[in-house]
Amino acid sequence: VKPTRKGLDRFEEDAQAWRAGSGARVPVYDRLLEEAAALVAAPAGPLEQAARERLDAAWRERRFSAPYDRPLLLMAALRAEATRAGAGHPLHAALAADPPAVGAATRAALAAALTDAPPRLHADLATRWVQTNETSRAVAWLWPAYLAGCSGDRARPLAIADIGCSAGLNLIGDRLSPLWSDAGGQPLPLAVGARVVARLGLDARPLDVSRDGDVAWLRACVWPGETARLARLDRAIEAMRAALAAPGEPPPAVETVDVRAAPARLEALAAALPADAVLIAYQTVVREYLPSDVRDQHAAAMQAWLAGGTGGEAGAGPRRVFVELEVAPEGWTGSEIPNPMALVAHVAGSGPLLLARCGYHPTVLTPDPTAVAVFAAATAADR
Ligand SMILES: C[S@@+](CC[C@H](N)C(=O)[O-])C[C@H]1O[C@@H](n2cnc3c(N)ncnc32)[C@H](O)[C@@H]1O
Repeated sequence: VKPTRKGLDRFEEDAQAWRAGSGARVPVYDRLLEEAAALVAAPAGPLEQAARERLDAAWRERRFSAPYDRPLLLMAALRAEATRAGAGHPLHAALAADPPAVGAATRAALAAALTDAPPRLHADLATRWVQTNETSRAVAWLWPAYLAGCSGDRARPLAIADIGCSAGLNLIGDRLSPLWSDAGGQPLPLAVGARVVARLGLDARPLDVSRDGDVAWLRACVWPGETARLARLDRAIEAMRAALAAPGEPPPAVETVDVRAAPARLEALAAALPADAVLIAYQTVVREYLPSDVRDQHAAAMQAWLAGGTGGEAGAGPRRVFVELEVAPEGWTGSEIPNPMALVAHVAGSGPLLLARCGYHPTVLTPDPTAVAVFAAATAADR
C-alpha cells in the first residue's frame, strides 16, 4: 500500500468504496459518507464551500495509504467532537447518541459540524489515525501461552510483546473476562495466573490510557451503536490503569517503536529474560496497515529473530514464539465471510502453524488440532 492519496484527492471514490464494502454494517456512517462524498464533489453554497475548505485545509499536508483511511478518519473525528460537544452538536444524535439516529445524519448537519467547529476537530483530522484496540484479540497470546506451558504461577516465566499494540490493552488480557470457545462451545484453555515477567507494547503511534484525549479518541474509533464493544473497551481501559498502578508486578510498558525496529527491541528484551522463559511476540491486525515493502521486510526480520534464538551461544536464551492474528490471504474480500482471520504461530525450525481461524473480533475459534499439537510439542520440548 503506497501513500497515494493526499488532501481531498479522490475522496469521493474512497468514501463510495468504503460504503460498498462495509456501509451495511454501520448505517449511520453509510449515510453520512454518502453526504460527505456529495458535499466534497460539489459543494452547494457558501456554507458547504467553507465546510469543504476546512476539511481540505486539515488534510492538505497529509498522505494516506489505504482507501478507508480518510472516510473512517472523518467519521471518527466527527464522532469524537459530537461526544465532546454534547447534545447541542449538529451530529450528536447521529454519531454520539445510543442508538445512533440515522435520520439525523444530514448534509446540512455535516456542513454545520465542519464549519462551526472548534480547532480541536481540525487537530484530530490533521494529526490522528483511526486506531482501535480490540481486546478480543488477546487470545493471540493467552491460548499459545497455555499451550507452551505457561499457565499457573509455578509454570515457566512468560514474557509477551505486542507489535502494533495501539494502547497496549491486549497486554493485560489476563485481567479481562475470557471470551473464547471453540466451535463446539468448549472454552479455549488459556494461560491463567501466569508468571508474566514482561509485558511490552510497541507501536509507531501508541495511545496512552492515562491521557484523556487518547481515551476519547479510542472510544470515538468504536463505531456508533457498538455498545457492547464500547463497554468492553471501557473495562479494558480501567484494567490497564489498574495494571499500571499495581505494586509488585512488572507494569505493562508501551513504547513508540516502528515495526522496522521491533526485532531489535525484541532482541534486547530476550537478552534480559531468564533462559527458561517463553517470549511470545504477537501482532494482531497490523499487517494490512504496513506498506507492502515494509510488510515483507518485517516478515523476514521476524523469521530471522526467531532463528536468532536457536543454535550457537544464543541457544541458551528464552523460547521465542511469534504469533500473528491477521486477515487470512483470502479473507479480505470486503464482504462477510466466516472466519476471515488466521491465528498463525511461528517457532524456529517449523513452518507456519495455522492454529485456528476466527472472526475479526474473535470469540469463537476453529482450531486445527494437528497444528495445535505440533505447536505444543515444539514449545514443550524445552520445558
Ligand atoms: C488496527 S490497529 C490494531 C491494534 C491492536 N493490535 C488490536 O488488534 O487491537 C493497527 C495498529 O498498528 C499500528 N501500526 C501501523 N503501522 C505501524 C508501524 N509501521 N509500526 C508500528 N505500528 C504500526 C497502528 O498505530 C495501530 O495501533
